[in-house]
Amino acid sequence: MVIKGFVFKNSLKTRGLIVFSLFILSFLFSFSTQAQSAEANFAQCKACHTIGGGKLVGPDLKGITEKMDEAWLIKFIQNSQALVKAGDPEAVKIFEEYHKIPMPAHNLTDEQVKDILLYIKNGGKVAGASEMVEETAPDLLKKQTPQPQMEKIYAEAKLKDERNMFVTFVVVVILLILSLVDIFFTKIVKRRWIHVIVILIALTVVSEIIFVESAALGRQQYYQPEQPVWFSHHVHAGQNRIDCMYCHFTADKSMYAGIPPVQVCMNCHSQVKKGKRTGEKEIKKVRDAYANGTPIKWIKVHNLPDHVYFNHAQHVTVGKVKCDRCHGPVEKMDEIIQVKSLGMGWCVDCHRTRKIDMNNKFYDQYTRLHEKIKNGKISSPTVVNVGGEECAKCHY
Ligand code: HEC
Ligand code: HEC
Ligand code: HEC
Ligand code: HEC
Ligand code: HEC
Ligand code: HEC
Repeated sequence: MVIKGFVFKNSLKTRGLIVFSLFILSFLFSFSTQAQSAEANFAQCKACHTIGGGKLVGPDLKGITEKMDEAWLIKFIQNSQALVKAGDPEAVKIFEEYHKIPMPAHNLTDEQVKDILLYIKNGGKVAGASEMVEETAPDLLKKQTPQPQMEKIYAEAKLKDERNMFVTFVVVVILLILSLVDIFFTKIVKRRWIHVIVILIALTVVSEIIFVESAALGRQQYYQPEQPVWFSHHVHAGQNRIDCMYCHFTADKSMYAGIPPVQVCMNCHSQVKKGKRTGEKEIKKVRDAYANGTPIKWIKVHNLPDHVYFNHAQHVTVGKVKCDRCHGPVEKMDEIIQVKSLGMGWCVDCHRTRKIDMNNKFYDQYTRLHEKIKNGKISSPTVVNVGGEECAKCHY
């Protein structure tokens, strides 16, 4: 009994101790991770904001927590453009004031934003945080933004394509030669029909390869020229989540998506003068181009032959095709690489399978098609039903 009682009492004590220290530990732990995450999360704001250091791309955030209420700030920081589009007067005002430079949306929870706001309120310091925080923040950031591997992946795909083609070609040519040598000289294989089959197959494969290769002449799948400025879509569209349409602002209303003039770059780079990867070197080229009034000579990556008509607005606005269907995961590429072949087969393949939205006003003119659908002759129309296979639609 005594022993039991002793053990019992002791275990109660140790349990209490364990619970208490767990509580303290978890408190410390949650506090330090919270502090680290606020610091790390604010790192993505630093390119455009300071706390008491003056205006950058966006306003100085000192005192913002007193100026605006928390609910509004959370919504604004998570997705300012949604507020602007909804016509929120405060959001519209500040957006106009900052020359309509959209603040990128941030994938942060309410709690994370509250932590950032607390961090801003404390003037960019986490209360009670030690130097340890300074050291862990960049590591956390590194984990959040892995370097893109797209170039490697596509370079490997290209190499594999070429190697497969080459190996097939060589094997088939060797078979052909062996067969011919046997027919005329060695005469080991007695059954002639075996030779006939081998030669027929070899000739078909070789001509197929020559046909495919010559059709692809002038095509540039996996083309990735070096650009005059190291402009990274990964940094802009990926890490900073700048909308494609902010720079390629004609893609939804014109034939061309267009490359942004250097003025658009200067909306931000009149303030942002240093990049993480290239320091001041590359951004200086942009600023110089602007100062000298000389446009940057970008090298066009995607090129269709002159006899082909292609219209961005038709695909982006009417067809509602997303950019990545044709250009791949651009927001993960440092340098743009042409992912698709842009061959005629590629265009037509999509037109044959892609359904169109018949409620679109654009299709009102297709009265006969509407009738056919009503009569149940066509159940789900594809682009082909509105002419996506007609030569003249794509060829001048
Ligand atoms: C690419 C630049 C950019 C980044 C990155 C950025 N902002 Fe902004 N921010 C702006 C601009 C520009 C404005 C001005 C409003 C506008 O144009 O929509 C703004 C406005 C604000 C405002 C409103 C200020 C006011 O006076 O009403 C707050 C708050 C804010 N940003 C917080 C943040 C936080 C927090 C982050 C990081 C999580 C962040 N921003 C990241 C560019 C940026
Ligand atoms: C900050 C401005 C900016 C943003 C945002 C941006 N781009 Fe670009 N884009 C450029 C510039 C500058 C070039 C020309 C240099 C190059 O090819 O990298 C370009 C080139 C391209 C090209 C290659 C065009 C060619 O030469 O054939 C494609 C495709 C493209 N962008 C798609 C996108 C998509 C998709 C998005 C959104 C995920 C996007 N861009 C976001 C500025 C931008
Ligand atoms: C249906 C396929 C398709 C879609 C969707 C598409 N593009 Fe393109 N894009 C092309 C082709 C094909 C070219 C080459 C055009 C040429 O050489 O005439 C091109 C060229 C470009 C260029 C080079 C400049 C120009 O206008 O020729 C840019 C930049 C570009 N696209 C950006 C975008 C962006 C941003 C989106 C999404 C908003 C988008 N594209 C959607 C197929 C597409
Ligand atoms: C909406 C704001 C915005 C626009 C518009 C913009 N940039 Fe940037 N740019 C940034 C930010 C933010 C960074 C990241 C700075 C950093 O690395 O901390 C950056 C970084 C860069 C870098 C350095 C990348 C590195 O990591 O070293 C280059 C070069 C650059 N931009 C070129 C351009 C060009 C060219 C244009 C116009 C086609 C452009 N930018 C338009 C915001 C913008
Ligand atoms: C990923 C799918 C996709 C690809 C790839 C694609 N298109 Fe389309 N295309 C569409 C859709 C969806 C429409 C329907 C929009 C419409 O009705 O105008 C369309 C419509 C068209 C039209 C108008 C047809 C008409 O009857 O008015 C033309 C022309 C066209 N595409 C040319 C091209 C060319 C050239 C290419 C290749 C370089 C191409 N498309 C690649 C999806 C695609
Ligand atoms: C959806 C768009 C589309 C339609 C419809 C289309 N083409 Fe094409 N065509 C292309 C594209 C894009 C190319 C160039 C790319 C490639 O294949 O190298 C091309 C290339 C060609 C070429 C090869 C010329 C060269 O430069 O090598 C011929 C010939 C051709 N088309 C004939 C036709 C005929 C005939 C029709 C009607 C049966 C037709 N096309 C319908 C998009 C189209």
